[in-house]
This record gives sequence, structure tokens and C-alpha cells, in this order.
Amino acid sequence: MSHNLLKGKKGIIFGALNKDSIAWKVAERAHEEGAEFILTNAPVALRMGELDELAKATDSDIVAADVTSTEDLENLFQIAEEKFGKLDFILHSIGMSINVRKKIHYTESNYDFYHKAMDISAISFHRVMKIAKEKDIMNEWSSILALSFIAAQMAIPGYNDMSDAKSLLESIARTFGYYYGVDKKVRINTISQSPTKTTAGGGIKGFDSLFNFADANSALGNAPAEDCANYCITLFSDLTKYVTMQNLFHDGGFSSIGVTDEVMRHFEG
Ligand SMILES: NC(=O)c1ccc[n+]([C@@H]2O[C@H](COP(=O)([O-])OP(=O)(O)OC[C@H]3O[C@@H](n4cnc5c(N)ncnc54)[C@H](O)[C@@H]3O)[C@@H](O)[C@H]2O)c1
Repeated sequence: MSHNLLKGKKGIIFGALNKDSIAWKVAERAHEEGAEFILTNAPVALRMGELDELAKATDSDIVAADVTSTEDLENLFQIAEEKFGKLDFILHSIGMSINVRKKIHYTESNYDFYHKAMDISAISFHRVMKIAKEKDIMNEWSSILALSFIAAQMAIPGYNDMSDAKSLLESIARTFGYYYGVDKKVRINTISQSPTKTTAGGGIKGFDSLFNFADANSALGNAPAEDCANYCITLFSDLTKYVTMQNLFHDGGFSSIGVTDEVMRHFEG
């Protein structure tokens, strides 16, 4: 159901790969709420062609950009400026670690892969905002969001160097959020989402067990991707104008629970 929460708003959505992607659901909901946006992903991801369907359904253009490339991002923002003028929202929904993919143990990380994970999954957030700020493309009170995970705060086996990437991502949101807020009233937040069955999520070693554990160890159960999309929409809307520099948990209460009765029952003598 639409509430026209984003009527007239323009943005860029990074990271929709397929129907499971959190960014895909955000794009669908943003369209329903009246937003216009550009969809972007790495050239290699676009070759799969799935994004065309979303572009058609949301009346959006697709622009290829590898987030590790300043040149690609400058081109993307140039196209966005020509199409929309100023922007009201950006979603950074990107994560990738070769150490995770190759199942290399955290204590034995390959540092080339480690650097790549930081660059794609965290530093890219800084790079996107740096270019946006240099171009002065964001409207006042506009909203920039990235997606995070609680492994930024807690050790979670299997999450590997993505834990470090998420810590850095959340720190960038705070620090950039300060400067962008003071200078231009742009707000920056991260949403820390429950384990979610997507391509990136499925790459985590032991993902199914983690998914089931988080589901059992929360008050409401794991938050579905569709509800994460709804939360993103509220943060892009004018109803959350003074929310900035936050890491916002969207996890059914998992982050505030030591242990639930359900989990305790597994340890009854
Ligand atoms: N799935 C989960 O359990 C979960 C939980 C919390 C947070 N998140 C976060 O949500 C975000 C979206 O992930 P998802 O679960 O929807 O999976 P996904 O695999 O659908 O999305 C990840 C996206 O990152 C893109 N990407 C990778 N390298 C890139 C590059 N160099 N340039 C541009 N784009 C690149 C991929 O093409 C893909 O579209 C990620 O930040 C992820 O860490 C996921």
C-alpha cells in the first residue's frame, strides 16, 4: 500500500542483483511510494540481465558502476545530475569478501582479499558520499543509507572479514554523517539487518544455522527483507528528518537479547 512517502523524491539505489536482494525490495517499495531513481550495480552483475526486469517495473534507468572505481561513480553521479538535478536519497546495499567466498579462516585472512573486502563493502560508502558532496548533489534533509550487520559489534563465527568491513562502514556513517550534517543537513545512517536469505547472505559459512539461531534468539524473529525495505523507506522519508549518524537495528530485538527461553530449552539438563 502506498502512502506517497517519497513522492517527488529522486535517488540512486546501489546493489539490486536479483529478486532476493534487499535493494531490489527497496526499489520496489520506493517506486510504490512515488520515488524516481537510478539503479546501479557492478558491470559484472549487470551482465546477468536480471536487473532489466526491475528497471522496467520501476520505470528506472540502469547505470553500471563498480563502487571501487572513482571514475565509474563520477560518471554515475553525472548521469544522475543530468536526469534529476539534485537527489534526496541514496541506498548503499553492497557487500563482498573474497575471504568469505573462498572460506578462508578469519585468522588466516589473505590481505589482498581483505583490502578488497574493505574497499567494496565499506570504503565505497565514503567514496560515494565524497563524490556526492563534491558535486553538491544532495538536497538539504536528504538521506543516505547503508546496510550493516551485527557482526560489527559481536564476534560471529563465519562472518569473517565482513565483520571488520561492517564496523568500518558504521564508523564512516557516523563520521561522514557529522560533516555532511553540519555542512549540508544531509543525514547518514546504517541499518543493521537480520540474517536474510540473499546471494551475499548465502555466502557466509554456516549461514543457515546463523539464520535459525538469530530467529530463535529474538523477540519477534528475523526481520524479513520486505520489512527492511519498509524501514529504508521511512528513513528516506521526511518523517525521520532528525535521525542521523545512527546504526539502527532492524532485527526483531536480537541485538538486545542475551538468550531467549526458546534457546535456553536446548540446554535443559
Ligand atoms: N543477507 C544478509 O543476511 C544481510 C544481513 C545484514 C546486512 N546485509 C547487507 O545488505 C547489503 C545487501 O546485500 P544482500 O543481502 O541484499 O545481497 P546481494 O548479494 O543481493 O547484494 C550485494 C550486492 O553488492 C553488489 N556488489 C558487489 N561488489 C560490487 C562492486 N564492486 N560494485 C558495485 N556493487 C557491488 C552485488 O552485485 C550485489 O548486488 C550488503 O551490504 C549486506 O552485507 C545482508
